[in-house]
Amino acid sequence: MDHAALKQTATAMVAPGQGILAMDESNPTCGKRLQAVGVENTEPNRVTYRDLLLGTPGLGDYISGAILYDETIRQKNPEGRAFTELMQEQGIIPGIKVDTGAKDLALHPGEKVTEGLDGLRERLEEYRGFGARFCKWRAVITIDMEKGLPGRGCIEANAHALARYAALCQEAGLVPIVEPEVLLDGGHSIEDSFAITRETQHTVFEQLYRQNIFFEGMVLKPSMVLSGKENAKQASVQEVAERTLECLQQTVPAAVPGIAFLSGGQSDEQATQHLNTMNRLAAELALPWRLTFSYARALQHQALTTWKGDPARVEAARKALLHRAKLNSLASKGEYRD
Ligand code: 13P
Repeated sequence: MDHAALKQTATAMVAPGQGILAMDESNPTCGKRLQAVGVENTEPNRVTYRDLLLGTPGLGDYISGAILYDETIRQKNPEGRAFTELMQEQGIIPGIKVDTGAKDLALHPGEKVTEGLDGLRERLEEYRGFGARFCKWRAVITIDMEKGLPGRGCIEANAHALARYAALCQEAGLVPIVEPEVLLDGGHSIEDSFAITRETQHTVFEQLYRQNIFFEGMVLKPSMVLSGKENAKQASVQEVAERTLECLQQTVPAAVPGIAFLSGGQSDEQATQHLNTMNRLAAELALPWRLTFSYARALQHQALTTWKGDPARVEAARKALLHRAKLNSLASKGEYRD
């Protein structure tokens, strides 16, 4: 394992003022997003949309890396240039989602486990050949306090899979983004979110340790500690920032270079404000890691709804993407003013 190279890539992914563009929606998920703005889910339309995103001039000023889906890393844009080539031109590091999705966890009604370990070593070699330098694997944890979810069985199965994935990535010289997402859906309180996120992250790092993960060569992609979407009492921005940092301080080793949050269904504005407030608190807490973004919806939403499949609106959509990227870049330094 080339420790120095892994550390260098992981550090570049969370460089000051930069974050990650998650655009690794699987074909069905991408289809849902496209159909919501009246665009049919066909391969040419997915190419057009991904070209809209990656062809944005100046994107590399705010985006260190972008996570692609299997289909996209193999595709060329309408001008016949590989998407990875467009990225490299802007200094954007190519990444790839390598899990094959969250499936029902047997004998655990209502809970999921992420699959994709079989044959992963060979797939990683192929992705490296396409220019990938980092990977992503997302585990999903559902909170349902009435049903006693999540159970230990679900947390442990997902943490173990994340650690096995991370080890295969590092063996192949690829930086793993380790993403344990505690879902926002449900009526739970922020206290419940804190307790479950803490337990999940703690279990994930225990498993990463057991699988000999080189912490300096990985990036954590966690969810923030939030009130459940259906809870009448919504925590303030300040409280979310404080609780999220408190949780991370208790669970994440200082050797990890950076934490790049997912947006998880928060509004664009909330996702930016939460990140900004955390970075304002970071200085006085002397946090050991960089805090940035790895958003999909909170970066793409405005661009997608501006575009709606209209070629005449590509430029306006790119402006919308660049705008959100810039605001989140400022938030990653605690310099965003609303
Ligand atoms: P959201 O920012 O839309 O939550 O997506 C991030 C992601 O990559 C999910 O795996």
